[in-house]
Amino acid sequence: MADNLLYARLAEHLRRQIRRGQLRAGERLPSLRRLGRMQGVSVATAVEAYMQLEREGLIEARSRSGYYVRSSTMPLPTAGAMHRISRTPQAVRNPVLLGVLDVLAREDVLPLHAATPSPELLPCAALAATTTRVLRRNPDTALGYAPPQGIADLRKRIAWRYAQCGVDVDADEIIVTAGGMEAISLALRTVTQRGDVVVLETPTYYGLLQAVAALGLRVIEVPNLPGTGIDATRFAELLDRHVVRAAVLIPNFNNPMGSLTGDGDKRAIVAACAAHGVVLIEDDLYGELAYSGERPSPLRRFDEHGCVLTCGSFSKSLSPGLRVGWVLGANRTSDLLRAKCFSTVATATLPQLAVADYLSRHDFERALRRLRRALADNVQRCRDAIARHWPEDTRVSEPGGGLALWVELPQPIEGQALFDAALTHGIGTLPGHLFSSRGDYRHHLRLSCGLPWSTRIESALRELGALAGRQLR
Ligand SMILES: Cc1ncc(COP(=O)(O)O)c(C=O)c1O
Repeated sequence: MADNLLYARLAEHLRRQIRRGQLRAGERLPSLRRLGRMQGVSVATAVEAYMQLEREGLIEARSRSGYYVRSSTMPLPTAGAMHRISRTPQAVRNPVLLGVLDVLAREDVLPLHAATPSPELLPCAALAATTTRVLRRNPDTALGYAPPQGIADLRKRIAWRYAQCGVDVDADEIIVTAGGMEAISLALRTVTQRGDVVVLETPTYYGLLQAVAALGLRVIEVPNLPGTGIDATRFAELLDRHVVRAAVLIPNFNNPMGSLTGDGDKRAIVAACAAHGVVLIEDDLYGELAYSGERPSPLRRFDEHGCVLTCGSFSKSLSPGLRVGWVLGANRTSDLLRAKCFSTVATATLPQLAVADYLSRHDFERALRRLRRALADNVQRCRDAIARHWPEDTRVSEPGGGLALWVELPQPIEGQALFDAALTHGIGTLPGHLFSSRGDYRHHLRLSCGLPWSTRIESALRELGALAGRQLR
């Protein structure tokens, strides 16, 4: 038979196996030599067949590892829960968080629930050395109060990092906070009053739901859509229809969806806020963790009217325990600074000095590159394992950055039931309903990919798949 027909036939054979699920997403394909032997064709024909399937997006070559069935052939989560979005502002009604997090604090639990990179992926040794050096060199300063706004050298370095991605930030508008969460709380406390309406995404990070609930605010929700991020059209409609005080959004790699909102939509969201006098609180904790290495723009880049308050943190890139975050105060810096003073007087001095010293002496970019590579690899392998071991019809997000995977389970599997069952096997996950203001996403689970890949994780994912399968039966 002519060579070109041979390769087309072989490609068709493999294509059919993939479509029928005989070759599952994430599965490693035979080497070229082996495929050739198995099918009685030359290596060149096997190469042609794989190249054809690669062009069709069905398989991918991974460097030094071979060919795999693409796990992106797995379907993304549906926007199904979205049609239940309430049309009127409502209080947050989902008070279950503390109970869940208490259970997960157990040390014998594999932390697939914790959205933090594991210490092996962070420059912990350099940070330890820098902390010791700072303390030894200047104990009086390190153990005294820091200025309420934060240490000037650290603020300059944060401003410089924004300049690198084309965003003009004045160090004098930066307030250093105890992590990103304090930055968001300060911003909310400064611009809202009890009973005000705020827009949140759905799904969204449970910490935002808790902060909004604690301040007695009411919520309307805008969908965060799988693959495309915040629905900018719906967002603008909400602002037309309701009197909204603020929005708290995660445009760069939303937790838990992992989606990235495009620049066009970001621009439209900022413009809608400017037109309606809405304060836009941007939670940009994951912007530095784009797997491509290309940092996506913060909303602040599109802000010509000072309506965006960008909140950031070193929790996901250097250390969650140092608790160093910040808010860019724009024209609300003095109000935010007053709130900061009343809240904690100042952020702890030693961690601020340590981070500033680390940034001055070490190659942060290199550490970030290593972290991004590891996260991208973990996400890929976790998706592959889910494709192989979880029930058919499981859907999973395909994030381009961050730490989270958002899994939609086939009904009737309940995220909470799977969470409970997994815990009895020493595996931590988070049930999807934590990410909703009204306990939606009952068939979802969030997994974190912050642990370096290991056989333990692979077997935990296999175990989770088996537990899910049991619930399906
Ligand atoms: C989207 C988002 N915002 C804020 C936070 C809180 O960050 P920090 O630990 O810096 O307070 C987290 C932590 O997981 C998060 O995922």
